[in-house]
Amino acid sequence: MANRALFRIRQPIAELLHSASAQAAISIHGWVRTRRDAKSFSFFEINDGSCIASIQAIADIESENYAELKAIGTGAAVRVDGELVESPGKGQDWEIRVKRITLIGECPQDYPLQKKRHSDEFLRTIAHLRPRTNKFGAMFRIRSRLSFAIHQFFQERRFQYVHTPIITGSDCEGAGEMFRVTTFDLPVVPMKDEHANYEEDFFGKEAHLTVSGQLAVEPYCLALGNVYTFGPTFRSENSNTYRHMSEFWMIEPEIAFADLADDMDLAEDMVRYVIKFLRAECAADLALFERFVDKDLRARLDLVEKSDFIRLPYTNAIEILRTSGIEFEYEPKWGADLQTEHERYLTETHFNGPVFVFDWPTDIKAFYMRANDDEKTVAAMDLLVPQIGELIGGSQREERFDRLRDRLEAESLDQDDYWWYLDTRRYGSAPHAGFGLGFERLLMFVTGVTNIRDVIPYPRTPKHLEF
Ligand code: 4AD
Ligand code: MG
Repeated sequence: MANRALFRIRQPIAELLHSASAQAAISIHGWVRTRRDAKSFSFFEINDGSCIASIQAIADIESENYAELKAIGTGAAVRVDGELVESPGKGQDWEIRVKRITLIGECPQDYPLQKKRHSDEFLRTIAHLRPRTNKFGAMFRIRSRLSFAIHQFFQERRFQYVHTPIITGSDCEGAGEMFRVTTFDLPVVPMKDEHANYEEDFFGKEAHLTVSGQLAVEPYCLALGNVYTFGPTFRSENSNTYRHMSEFWMIEPEIAFADLADDMDLAEDMVRYVIKFLRAECAADLALFERFVDKDLRARLDLVEKSDFIRLPYTNAIEILRTSGIEFEYEPKWGADLQTEHERYLTETHFNGPVFVFDWPTDIKAFYMRANDDEKTVAAMDLLVPQIGELIGGSQREERFDRLRDRLEAESLDQDDYWWYLDTRRYGSAPHAGFGLGFERLLMFVTGVTNIRDVIPYPRTPKHLEF
């Protein structure tokens, strides 16, 4: 009950800073960012996380609890009661004339966040404290709003949100990069014919963390029409890059009676929508990234908001790369996947804007992608954007039962494992398409942050699991 009362009386600093008038009695709760002492006053900058700005609170040395006030320094949690008055200082309309500052949680001198610029590397080692910095506070407010914007985009268009499972018995994108889920006591795993006997494991079969909600969401698409899932996904690939993590969040829409062109339209609309939303709703937080992180951010977001995305067949992309005159580390070859360096050349140098590369070689793509009439390619697309490379991967799905069955066979996948997925192609199958958008990559794109570890609260990467 006490907590509820506290919540009711708490006034967010974000609101006070936009107050229409002076207020005789206000109270705030927050953390001291800085403290400066002058002859007869102490100046406190107080931040409560509701916005990037702190509010200045000015305490008179004569104030009733000056003894207590003396002990309050950077990082302390406080309650401030006082008067909201016009601020003579530049850059803020309002400040607080303190009646009383109450120390709620003291913060000793060894507080790691002193007033100076800390490196991203250092802040990663204190991931539990970094949201108290301006930069990470802004990042995680943007993350929250961006996630809301995505839901709003789909909900406005009558997409249904489907909660696909985290633990899965099927493997969507290919074995070898999934985390196993087991309750076996590893040193004494029950063996059968020199293999672990999963019949004795928790689910009576092998289980993994999902790498994608797609296979589970498709049947819902073929029932509810347009759907999406938005949740955590897990990949155990051992890659330490600026844009890969072992746990990341993915947005996966799936649209019924739709083809690859519809899929690209949806992806383009969505990316443009959320960027517009953020610029309107998170201007102050985005401004920090424009100022301190990426000088080109504004221009890049303009580019996405205002220009049409290029749509380029994979075959043409290879041609452009081969005739670019650039010595790539990996030679671009028809039939091979695009490397990051190729992606970035196309989107940054050649086109200077977002590019869909579509119609990919069958051999390097997943079994569920729809075969094109040329019998060499599938109706798949990747959206490439400057700074990141691949932001989205999607495809039209193979809705023809025979073709899908043949493809499973060609990939040596066991039909029995996919019986329910195949069923959806036997009973009222329909053309459909979808994509997966890496949420953290989108955050990197909209903030200019260049390391994916800095856009998620607690990054999970190979050999890192501290928090
Ligand atoms: O291209 P991917 O692997 O596609 C799928 O999983 C499909 N089943 C999606 C679908 O059609 N429903 O992954 C989709 C996106 C990538 O474009 C990338 O943005 C992101 O997920 N992604 C990662 N983000 C962070 N760390 C990783 N290890 C990632 N792997 C993929
Ligand atoms: Mg991909």
